[in-house]
Amino acid sequence: MTVPAPSPLLLIPGPSPVPQPVLEALARPTESHSSEPTGRSLRRLQEGVAHAVGARPAGDPAGDLVLVLAGSGTMGLEAGIVNLVGPGEKLLVVSHGFFGARFAAAGRAIGADVVEVSCPWGEQVPAGEVERALQESGAKVMTVTHVDTATGVVSPFLEYARIARELGVVMVLDAVAGAGGMPVGMAAAGIDVVITASQKALGMPPGLAILAISQRAMERRRQLGRCGSYFLDWLNWEATMRDSQANYFATLPTNMLAAGAVAMELAEGEGWEPRFARHRRMAHAVRRGLRALGLPPLGADEVLSSTVTAVRVPETIDPAALRRAAAAEDVTIAGGIGAWSKTTIRLGHMGAVGLPELLHGMAALEGGLISLGAPVERGAGVGELM
Ligand SMILES: Cc1ncc(COP(=O)(O)O)c(C=O)c1O
Repeated sequence: MTVPAPSPLLLIPGPSPVPQPVLEALARPTESHSSEPTGRSLRRLQEGVAHAVGARPAGDPAGDLVLVLAGSGTMGLEAGIVNLVGPGEKLLVVSHGFFGARFAAAGRAIGADVVEVSCPWGEQVPAGEVERALQESGAKVMTVTHVDTATGVVSPFLEYARIARELGVVMVLDAVAGAGGMPVGMAAAGIDVVITASQKALGMPPGLAILAISQRAMERRRQLGRCGSYFLDWLNWEATMRDSQANYFATLPTNMLAAGAVAMELAEGEGWEPRFARHRRMAHAVRRGLRALGLPPLGADEVLSSTVTAVRVPETIDPAALRRAAAAEDVTIAGGIGAWSKTTIRLGHMGAVGLPELLHGMAALEGGLISLGAPVERGAGVGELM
């Protein structure tokens, strides 16, 4: 782990604090999109993301294609489905929170016949319901959210992947909020498309949507015929992503690629498994600390992610006032989303966030609660981190 750049300390579920060497790489002179250094950075970033999500490496004859696009995670979600589902075709969306609903909205926007299977926020959709919905709908493509960022709940995506394989369904996983901080195991689980973005546990600034695409998914793209998007069409990017020096489709975000290569060097210096273990440790420590402050996480321990925690704020405390108090100590904490906006706050603990950052954040929360009259003992939360 490397020390993130100084304040403000972003303890939000993305963007996460960006390490100084990554910021310095962004500030290097801009390279041509078809230059050798850009090609090298792209390959480095692709390799790193492939390792992070457990994709098959590019050198493998069955290797997955890692597609790096300028844009945000939402663009990645759209790129994930517009290549697989044509107008009027069925798309099964498994939704356990805010970003599952986004997949459904994106599916409708591209003209898909969306069938949604969902659960109350804070819970998981049982695998049996997913199996039944696939059988009843006949959908051949389904989307799943890995970690829902509104609730911090992780889905049983490995169970869904097993069902998808048995039924011959192509599974698209939104791992925007988990990849780089939690294992995904794409190839081992037979997941066809894993989508992520630069600004979360991978430790880069916002600006890249990244998709790891299996050969089976590529085959389905070919069978689809016309794709409903020109810029997001995987086939337009395929050659550039295999050799950016020889093949131009559109100008690459060259400074972000340089920064991404450095982010991957840092992550691989730490090692992916140790990085996942650090995220697990941090998540447990944060939750112990938050409970000690009277801020219980929403969701049972066994369904909570390693990267983001949503907590309920006591009725006597205004979540916005608590966030303002933390901001006065240079700590940025996220509010709740949607139906949870009035009652919750969210903490991101991903990427370069380690114990020093959590101590700072917990101390700011503790001080904020005390200043707002909550019956909190000074040191109660911070003590749980040590
Ligand atoms: C799980 C998940 N999916 C998709 C997105 C959308 O990403 P972006 O805001 O970069 O468009 C987010 C962003 O928070 C997310 O957490």
